[in-house]
Amino acid sequence: MSEDVRDRLAAALQTARARTTLLTESVTDAELVAQHSILMSPLVWDLAHIGNQEELWLVRDVGGREPVRADIDHLYDAFKHARRNRPALPLLSPTEARRYVATVREKAFDVLDRNPLHGSRLIDEGFAFAMIAQHEQQHDETMLATHQLRTGTAVLDAAPPPAAITGLHGEVIVPAGEFTMGTSTDPWALDNERPAHPVFVPAFAIDRAPVTNAEYAAFIDDGGYERRDLWSERGWSHRVEADLVAPQFWERDANGAWWRRSFGRLAPIRPDQPVMHVCFFEAQAYARWAGKRLPTEAEWEKAARFDPVTGRSRRFPWGDGEPTHATANLGQRHLEPADVGAYPQGASLLGVHQLIGDVWEWTSSGFDAYPGFEVFPYAEYSQVFFGGDYRVLRGGSFGTDPIACRGTFRNWDHPIRRQIFAGFRCARSLSEDELR
Ligand code: AVJ
Ligand code: FE
Repeated sequence: MSEDVRDRLAAALQTARARTTLLTESVTDAELVAQHSILMSPLVWDLAHIGNQEELWLVRDVGGREPVRADIDHLYDAFKHARRNRPALPLLSPTEARRYVATVREKAFDVLDRNPLHGSRLIDEGFAFAMIAQHEQQHDETMLATHQLRTGTAVLDAAPPPAAITGLHGEVIVPAGEFTMGTSTDPWALDNERPAHPVFVPAFAIDRAPVTNAEYAAFIDDGGYERRDLWSERGWSHRVEADLVAPQFWERDANGAWWRRSFGRLAPIRPDQPVMHVCFFEAQAYARWAGKRLPTEAEWEKAARFDPVTGRSRRFPWGDGEPTHATANLGQRHLEPADVGAYPQGASLLGVHQLIGDVWEWTSSGFDAYPGFEVFPYAEYSQVFFGGDYRVLRGGSFGTDPIACRGTFRNWDHPIRRQIFAGFRCARSLSEDELR
């Protein structure tokens, strides 16, 4: 492995740790051990779990070093204890957890510096280190969602996202044809993104922008939450049982205007900002109200990656290069999605905007293996979730770090979940007649 890759891995691990530190040092120790929602772990669990995964993969497996704390593995195994039960476990205290992750990190850096880093698939191109940096960043996004759920005054701050540069309306039409979905060459792509494979996608139209707060408010005002015909059977049962009436964190004032609570601050909704904190069933009902549907995962990826001139699939909508501040709202640089039209430089060749960053986008697809899938390096990352009650989300949010976001990156969650930073865009099928 070249020194350049070593430097990039060290930087990625440091970036992740700086964010973890910000998210865990900005609240009191009492708040670190508290459970802010039964959907979430106490922040101190995420912290030590981050260190434990790093110990398992980098210190013990890649490094072949002695365990730091073999006695605590079971506490931080996500499959051994449900989130709701984690506060009652004999977890490391905040002080112990901080010391633990620092000790593990010192050893992981020693492995990165001194071990030969070639000769197995796990370490070629630094995969294991990149996997652990992605893992920490994924938990950082989860911790950011915990911050959004906590009550109390604001503790996080960030610059506002950029304003819209261009108006953004309507849809683009994508003619029927094959494209390459997934990747076999992106060195740090995770197992569920592999391998690259051809997929025939019938003609479709997809919105150039995610659905905005103003558009979603129009759906509410039109009785969207009361009209059973707009909802799937499961969606309607959930709508009634959970008493859904608006996106999570929305409140109406005495004049009927919508406000949104965001990281401890209440502000009027921004009309042109992508709607967020809606579940799959709400997204589906909105799409039906609009005379459309959600895109499939393949449609979303084709809209993002397909080059109609060469027929090639690119890593990102804007090309193969890494995201920049001008192409996507990622990495908790801002604490909210940007208005639609804020990232013209991030548009895909097909003319679709803000596919990467801002909000995760619900798709209509379940989470399944691609043809030719191989577990790598462990079944509990992806394989155990295939075929479960999940829907795929694509594109990442303002809270997703660039290292955990690509045109091929796949996220998934239960269709009722709303605490994630998820919105959606609409699509529709086209007849060949409509294309002529
Ligand atoms: C890919 C976001 C669904 O948080 O459950 C973290 C990522 N896997 N630790 C999750 C993950 C193991 C995962 N998601
Ligand atoms: Fe994890």
